[in-house]
Amino acid sequence: MNNYLSSLFNLSGKVALVTGATGQLGYAICESFLASGMNVIGIDLRISQSRVIQSENIQYFEVDIRNADALKDFFNKLSSSIISIDVLVNNAGVSVFEPFEERPEESFDWVMDVNLKGTFFCIQNYVNFQRINRKHGSIVNVASFYGVISPDFRIYTDCSRKNSEVYGATKAGIIQMSKYFAVHLANDNIKVNCISPGGIFNPENPQGEDFLQNYSFRCPMKRMAKVQEMIGAILYLSSDAASYTTGQNIIIDGGMSCW
Ligand SMILES: NC(=O)c1ccc[n+]([C@@H]2O[C@H](COP(=O)([O-])OP(=O)(O)OC[C@H]3O[C@@H](n4cnc5c(N)ncnc54)[C@H](O)[C@@H]3O)[C@@H](O)[C@H]2O)c1
Repeated sequence: MNNYLSSLFNLSGKVALVTGATGQLGYAICESFLASGMNVIGIDLRISQSRVIQSENIQYFEVDIRNADALKDFFNKLSSSIISIDVLVNNAGVSVFEPFEERPEESFDWVMDVNLKGTFFCIQNYVNFQRINRKHGSIVNVASFYGVISPDFRIYTDCSRKNSEVYGATKAGIIQMSKYFAVHLANDNIKVNCISPGGIFNPENPQGEDFLQNYSFRCPMKRMAKVQEMIGAILYLSSDAASYTTGQNIIIDGGMSCW
């Protein structure tokens, strides 16, 4: 029993690929995977040296997940040195904040391209990669509670970063795409789940005072999330503890979506 329990969450020696690896959440995911003994491949649009983790167990690559050909090349190159990627975390995501009445087509397309098409291209290439050596795997997609509920605009009094319809629509799409691939990839032994974070406090670029107060009033747990609070679910979904869990969306929002 003890052996069984210790193996449940054991990620040591496994390989993970994390997109958006140098962003706020991506950095924390890479850090926790490394601390769990994993080898990590981090990809991002631009790798800024101030956002990389110094470790021999992580390698960074600049890849634009919107670019299907670039992603295909990237996975082809990986296949010369790696035979399996145990976990893919589709974390890269963007949003736009102008009022919807003024939203230009490019803004809409950008969010669709990164969040939905980019996530799809990563899943497509990952599955083709794993199938070469008939390896099983795990995909964890990062959606958002705004893929499940609409923002309450009353909380944005001093904040110009009002969440957009296209962001929520792409995140809802990611939740649905996770279910689609959970069913489609079950025979490949690839499980597909997602997490939906609530608002995460960003100490490097703090949200406005008014917003923080309003958000805390609206949230049953009376505060925004800490980035580390997303990690437990990601580790769980990446591990054997979730071996029979697929197609699920874990909402981590301090209860915000419950009312
Ligand atoms: N921060 C929050 O409050 C919050 C809440 C809910 C969901 N999320 C989701 O969590 C994920 C991470 O968000 P974050 O807060 O860390 O944001 P972030 O902006 O700090 O990180 C996102 C990363 O994705 C990268 N990226 C953007 N476009 C890319 C592309 N075309 N190819 C490769 N990489 C690209 C960016 O360079 C950046 O490093 C996103 O999917 C976001 O939608 C965040």
